[in-house]
Amino acid sequence: MKSAVYCQIGFIPDMRHCSAFLVCLAAALSSAIVISHPHTWTKLILTHQWPTTFCGVEHCHPNISYWTLHGLWPDKGNDCNSSWHFNSSQIEDLLPDMEKSWPDLLHPASCSFWKYEWHKHGTCAATADSLNSQHKYFSKALELYHKVDLNSVLRKFDITPSEKYFTFSQIEGAIENFYGVKVKIQCIPPSKNDDIQILGQIEICFDLDFTLMDCEKQFTMEASKGDWDYRVAVDKASEFSVCDHNMPVYYPPLP
Ligand SMILES: *[C@@H]1O[C@H](CO)[C@@H](O)[C@H](O)[C@H]1NC(C)=O
Ligand SMILES: *[C@@H]1O[C@H](CO)[C@@H](O)[C@H](O)[C@H]1NC(C)=O
Ligand SMILES: *[C@@H]1O[C@H](CO)[C@@H](O)[C@H](O)[C@H]1NC(C)=O
Repeated sequence: MKSAVYCQIGFIPDMRHCSAFLVCLAAALSSAIVISHPHTWTKLILTHQWPTTFCGVEHCHPNISYWTLHGLWPDKGNDCNSSWHFNSSQIEDLLPDMEKSWPDLLHPASCSFWKYEWHKHGTCAATADSLNSQHKYFSKALELYHKVDLNSVLRKFDITPSEKYFTFSQIEGAIENFYGVKVKIQCIPPSKNDDIQILGQIEICFDLDFTLMDCEKQFTMEASKGDWDYRVAVDKASEFSVCDHNMPVYYPPLP
């Protein structure tokens, strides 16, 4: 399988993202030192990204017009076990679905995104018995992604990519009415002199039993910030923030 071969790259410490000496130093240190401290998380955040928006910021070439997985993040803790290395052989049976549902938009056919997510978030999620292996963690994320099926829900309520703008409450209302919980919807804020925001990321939250629960902003902040350095590492810090309730929302189609 093509992907499995590319994935072997994932075993080698990936320094391609190192844009500055300090970033490289930090990466080297964090892979050399096991930081162990107790972490108690109470919520899992299933984060979806809209590829066109992500690629608009990161200058990649989106060719996917469905919401993809960004990650499954415990609400507390980052990089909980640096000696637990990502190993794509352990999720080999999941790779076809991973490539489709959880693609690395920056480095297609590479495992660097999954490796990053495992180290940063998966090793923390793994304190729960239900998520204490790479296979359990990634397969649960895929299972939840398919179960919530955000793409179908949005389509069902005629929220589809369009050159016309939506109101924020159209989008939020459709999602929250359907799931019956509060979600967190993030946008790229308008650039100067502009008055539209661009839909980019949607977080849906689960409790320890994988039952839907309300996302609350004070809990999701930490985990959302958690992936910021992935973007810093690729030298293009993208700033998603909670969408403004009073500003039109652009849900961009493929360019
Ligand atoms: C998108 O492009 C990537 C890299 O060129 C390719 O591997 C992938 O199969 C494409 N995906 C789709 C859905 O066309
Ligand atoms: C970290 O991961 C290693 C390798 O899987 C494991 O042996 C060790 O018990 C883990 N440490 C903690 C604190 O969970
Ligand atoms: C990765 O996992 C496979 C299957 O469990 C195992 O045989 C292999 O030794 C592991 N590789 C590393 C580098 O740990």
